[in-house]
Formats: sequence, C-alpha cells, structure tokens
Amino acid sequence: MGDTHSMEPTSRIIVALDFDNRRAADEVVGRLGEECRFYKVGLELLTAAGPDLIEDLVAQGKEVFLDLKLFEIPNSVAGAVRAAGALGVSMVTVHSMGGAGIMAAAVAAARDFPRLRVLALTVVTSMTSSDLSDIGITGPPSTEDQVLRLARLAEGAGVHGVIASPQEAGALRRALGPDTLIVTPGVTLPDESPGDHARSGTPRAAVAAGASHVVVGRTVTRATDPAAAFRSVRTNLEL
Ligand code: C5P
Repeated sequence: MGDTHSMEPTSRIIVALDFDNRRAADEVVGRLGEECRFYKVGLELLTAAGPDLIEDLVAQGKEVFLDLKLFEIPNSVAGAVRAAGALGVSMVTVHSMGGAGIMAAAVAAARDFPRLRVLALTVVTSMTSSDLSDIGITGPPSTEDQVLRLARLAEGAGVHGVIASPQEAGALRRALGPDTLIVTPGVTLPDESPGDHARSGTPRAAVAAGASHVVVGRTVTRATDPAAAFRSVRTNLEL
C-alpha cells in the first residue's frame, strides 16, 4: 500500500470471505491459493470462526482487511483497533457517521501497528438518497454530496482511506488527492447483475475512476471455480 497509482492488479483485489463458518472460508482460500493475496473478513465470519482464522491468514502471508465497521465510544474504538493490529491485519474500518472523535481515536490507536490502515465508511453502498432522508440526512442534495462531506471529515481526522461505491470513486479521488486509499465494494463483472448493490460498477471502472482497491465477494466466493472467477476480475482490471 502507499502509492495508489502503480499497484499491480492482483494487489488491488480484496476477496470478501462472507461465510458463517471457517470450513467454507478455508475452502475458498485453499482454492484461490497463490492467486489471491488479500482477504476481507467481516463481522459474520469473525463472530462465527473467531480471530484464529485471521492469524492463520496472516501467517500464510495474506493481507487481511478486518471490516469491523466500528461505531462506538472513542475508548472502545481504540481498543478494537489495537486488538485488530495485534492480529496483524492491514485494514480496519470505522464509521465516519460516528464523527471525527472516533475516527481520530482509531487513527491514534493504529500508530503502534505500522502496517495497519484505518479506513472510514462513508455511505454504505446499499443506501440511497431516500434511505438518507429516512434517517434525517436531508441537507446535502445527493448521496454523493453526503459521501464527500463524510470523506472530508474522515480526512481531517487523519484516516488513511475511505470505503465508497464505484460511482463515487472519481469524485473522492479528486477531493482527497493521490495517496489516500479508496476501497470500493459493490463491484460486479460486466456480464453480472448488480444484485443488491445500489451503486455498483465494474472493477475496471472503479480503478479507472480512482479506486486503489476493489472488494469482490460472491462473484468469486460463490463461483463454481473461484480461481477462474478471480482471474476474470484481474483480467477486467488489466483491460
Ligand atoms: O456483493 P459482494 O458479495 O461482492 O459483497 C462483498 C462485500 O461488499 C461485502 O462484504 C459487503 O461489505 C460489501 N457490500 C456493500 N454493499 C452492498 C453489498 C456488499 O458494501 N450492497
């Protein structure tokens, strides 16, 4: 991580291990072998399988994005970030909607772990303007405005990067400059349906717009041949 321009395609791809048991996750990791070097572990798998799985991935030389989506008091956020750092993970997430205080606490806690990057969630990709209005966010005229507002707040708090949909990657890259990590879930291959992603795009479109990393889940993990699906994602990035 660091220079977001010159990364080679494989290092940009993070495969989301969204499973409710370790056996299923281990099977996908085994089938991807050396192809995949970066995995996302979310609350489902962490809760079901425990932190040993993360330590084992790190011991295999994999990078791990621990998607904790922290939204807590600063002291608890800092503690969770330190626990993530002790496991050897490379990325951890905090909600920007929790305010600058918890993001700054996360960044301060990560300083003891040189490889750990704190990423702020802006507006989750399944949310629309109507969802924002339902929770009382009616000020900015669009979802993108809200994403930018939260991203600037996150930047001010010192985070290393943000999570955002492919559709916001370009505006975020322009707003945040060349070095900030921009990690985009919600990517689908050109011949796939967007499924439950409200603001989806292809990996190539996301990176061309400015994403440093793409998160891809079911496209790879639920494929009959996960390694072939992973190669399709990489090929899409190489086009
Ligand atoms: O849809 P897919 O299986 O590729 O999801 C991979 C990851 O992307 C999930 O772990 C989730 O965190 C994120 N995601 C998202 N918004 C969605 C669907 C998935 O941010 N609507």
